[in-house]
Amino acid sequence: MIKVSTNYSWIAAACLLAACGNSASSDKSAVDSTATKAPATASVLPDANLFKDSLDGKPTALYILRNKNNAAVAITNYGARVVSLLVPDKNGVMTDIAVGYDSIGKYIHQPESYFGAIVGRYGNRIAKGRFSLNGKEYKLATNNGPNSLHGGLKGFAAHVWDAKQLNDSTLELTYLSKDQEEGYPGNLQAKVTYTLSGDTVNSLKIDYEATTDKPTVVNLTNHTYFNLNGQGSGTINNHLLQFNADRYTPVDSTLIPTGKIEPVAGTPFDFRQPTAIGARVDSPNQQLKFGKGYDHNFVLNAGKGAGLNLAATVLGDQSGIFMEVWTMEPGIQFYGGNFMSGSNPLKGGKRDDHRTAFCLETQHYPDSPNEPSFPSTVLQPGKQYKTSTVYTFSVKK
Ligand code: BGC
Repeated sequence: MIKVSTNYSWIAAACLLAACGNSASSDKSAVDSTATKAPATASVLPDANLFKDSLDGKPTALYILRNKNNAAVAITNYGARVVSLLVPDKNGVMTDIAVGYDSIGKYIHQPESYFGAIVGRYGNRIAKGRFSLNGKEYKLATNNGPNSLHGGLKGFAAHVWDAKQLNDSTLELTYLSKDQEEGYPGNLQAKVTYTLSGDTVNSLKIDYEATTDKPTVVNLTNHTYFNLNGQGSGTINNHLLQFNADRYTPVDSTLIPTGKIEPVAGTPFDFRQPTAIGARVDSPNQQLKFGKGYDHNFVLNAGKGAGLNLAATVLGDQSGIFMEVWTMEPGIQFYGGNFMSGSNPLKGGKRDDHRTAFCLETQHYPDSPNEPSFPSTVLQPGKQYKTSTVYTFSVKK
């Protein structure tokens, strides 16, 4: 059972709306006639043999975690990434809700390189690949127009991590990012632990830890692309999304926050009630133009304590799979799959078509190292970076 603060009236609202069938989706109903049916047959896990390889002198493999409800997650140590996540839909059919490839070769060679990955040393963007710490300027590898995205040219996503399966449901992964890797100061020892639980509800917990030997910046997150109707099963436009966020961080044309924190009220960023993802995604809004859709950090409303707070809920319109995201982080990046183009071959012969998945990346805000008013991402030697995020999965009929 996860420990949570439950003082959000909107949670109850979310449950009521979604369960009674008279939900926000009917009046804000989006939208996409290309929606396809959720898979009627049970998803299967990928063939672990197709993940056995070696890269930079380290073996790659696929690790399977299961819980007592038969939910399962497949994780590869290449990028510490979630390859598959199987949970039951409203009919009890095991459904793979994580977009991914069926072999290690595709993870290494296909153009889309963040599926399921742990991204770091700094998740999301740092403006112009530069920041200053203690009066010294650091220059990072830039890989996204003028900016540095998700740690730079390789980032943590393209390294082989050391993996240790602790039991049926827990996998520990470690990675040493050396001083000056991609321009970042300090040897950073990172540890990520995935735990699949099933006591009260199926849940995937991700614990992040890191230490450094020089002052540095850290912002780790998970970049799973979700489709709650099943990966590759069509649009996410009709999924119902809700954020526990009254504010967000608007961006410039290169998706760097302007530094302002603005209310979502009266904008297409208002997801304080469950709303179809696609209902307003193409409305004439400058921020949506910059992101080519949603690609923005939401400022999470403060919870009661320093523990896990509910950040977001999403309901798969066809599967009935209901996901909650709980985190200790102050922000969450909502990326709506705007750059997905159908050019990557997914598991089961599916393709990554435009907006057929979304990411909810719990995080500190993008470009925090250059925005003194944002919560700090600096990690000092002798201190420990420690944060957790939990995704829970239930169903609504
Ligand atoms: C970014 C997007 C980017 C995507 C890559 C997201 O976190 O905000 O701009 O295209 O990651 O998969």
